[in-house]
Amino acid sequence: MDKKIIIAIDGPSASGKGTLGRNLAKKLGYDYMDTGALYRLIAKTMIDKGIDEKDTDKIIELATNIKNSFNISQLSNPELKTDTVGILTSKISVIPEVRNILTDIQSNFANHNTAKGAILDGRDIGTVICPHADIKLFITATTETRAARRTKELNEKNISASYEDVLKEMQERDKRDANRDISPMKPAHDAYIINTSYIDENEVMKKVLAVIGNKLSKI
Ligand code: DC
Repeated sequence: MDKKIIIAIDGPSASGKGTLGRNLAKKLGYDYMDTGALYRLIAKTMIDKGIDEKDTDKIIELATNIKNSFNISQLSNPELKTDTVGILTSKISVIPEVRNILTDIQSNFANHNTAKGAILDGRDIGTVICPHADIKLFITATTETRAARRTKELNEKNISASYEDVLKEMQERDKRDANRDISPMKPAHDAYIINTSYIDENEVMKKVLAVIGNKLSKI
């Protein structure tokens, strides 16, 4: 089969979409982009440069500079993954100009990758970035499950965090991501929805491989 396959994975934070995306890319030999890390790269650079979250002009200028010198290896920096960066990211990702600038990077990655296919995970991949994706997945879990996962993850890294604080921050972030005017987080009408609250990553993978096998047999 010569056609390049695009798989769009959307969902809230700590739903398991990143783990799934990475594992799937490895298994299928596809390229993978964590688009949350792309938005995080802007927030992290703002913190490093002391740019205020209200200084929209500076943020847009920064996003343009990041786009012009972008290299995918920049997304592997573990410092992008902190909750401080995550909260600021959710705030700046409502800026339409920032979304437009980052759309180019994501579309280019999806449509001109050199592997057999591309997997992108984020909030609006199936709805806005790749509306024609071959396979669309929306990965979710209850807020309580996701907050418990995130708290455990932070504590394992020796970062002290209480479940209550993590839950509150997560609720605020979900609300902002799902209610913004432009490209809100929501499942595409043709997305396959998987709730990971009560199943582990191996079971998620099994379900997804079954969906992919079924879809690709019809292409
Ligand atoms: O997936 P994540 O937690 O790394 O994403 C961080 C923030 O980035 C999230 O709160 C919303 C924003 N984001 C977005 O608006 N669109 C995307 N495609 C990916 C992330």
